[in-house]
Amino acid sequence: MAIERTLSIIKPDAVGGNHIGAIYDRFEQAGLRIVGAKMLQLDDEKAGGFYAEHAERPFYNDLKSFMTSGPVLVSVLEGEDAIAKHRDIMGATNPKEAAEGTIRADFANSIDENAVHGSDSAQSAAREISYFFNEDEVCPRTR
Ligand code: PPS
Repeated sequence: MAIERTLSIIKPDAVGGNHIGAIYDRFEQAGLRIVGAKMLQLDDEKAGGFYAEHAERPFYNDLKSFMTSGPVLVSVLEGEDAIAKHRDIMGATNPKEAAEGTIRADFANSIDENAVHGSDSAQSAAREISYFFNEDEVCPRTR
């Protein structure tokens, strides 16, 4: 299986709830390595650009308000089949539909405030990683 990279965001509800360590533990327990990380306070423009594909959706403005309501932790995760693996451990977008033991089942309260984001394809991962990280801010593991 291919070694991939994916973009993870721990959203303002989960950062505010002090769940960063618990969520990072899920990533590492699943065999994903954190190869880039930064905490950011997004503004309307940065959040809006990230979610530009949803600009016509009814929840777009609320999504931007939520994503700018507090700091987020953006990370690059690396590992075998990282994109699908990360989505599996996040669980469904709507926490009410998320499987038991997934991050959203355990840490999210609603579809509007659902704790984490993960890239949904290799193409999205490449775009999303470069949206937040310069090349020299991602550090391949050497040991
Ligand atoms: S969908 O509905 O299948 O198109 O959802 P998806 O493509 O996975 O991503 C939609 C992103 O918007 C966030 N969001 C919502 N989605 C649906 N309904 C409501 N009300 C809503 N509010 C916010 C959702 O969490 C997805 O964001 P990310 O960051 O990708 O998880």
